Amino acid sequence: MIYVTRKSHFTAAHRLHNPQKSDEWNRNTYGPCNHPNWHGHNYVIEVTVAGETDPDTGYVVDLGELKKVIHAKVVSVCDHKNLNLDVDFLQGIIPSAENLARAFFLRLEKDIDRITPHGKLFSVRLYETERNIAEYRED
Ligand code: NI
Repeated sequence: MIYVTRKSHFTAAHRLHNPQKSDEWNRNTYGPCNHPNWHGHNYVIEVTVAGETDPDTGYVVDLGELKKVIHAKVVSVCDHKNLNLDVDFLQGIIPSAENLARAFFLRLEKDIDRITPHGKLFSVRLYETERNIAEYRED
């Protein structure tokens, strides 16, 4: 099995807030990430496809095609947006790095299957900062 990764970037605002809980619980749990007037991150998303190489091309996936899918499904809809308010497929979830990584995986999966006859989407890693990273895999 070979693993191929494409990295992309976007910038977005969010707020971590659980409306089922008190304001005090939210402040204590999320600290500055609960700030009512939002804050931003320079997100980095790494999408890894696993599979065998196509005998004709030597590729697991055409990285140009993978780049287009990531841009169409994630970057173009999240970049310079407020993740709590502006992004339809993120409505109703707390936009933690964990929840975002899962939501991006589920949104990318079908299109990546389409461009990868010899492989499949393996993982989505989301860097909220250089040091805080969440990864979603279906295993
Ligand atoms: Ni944050």
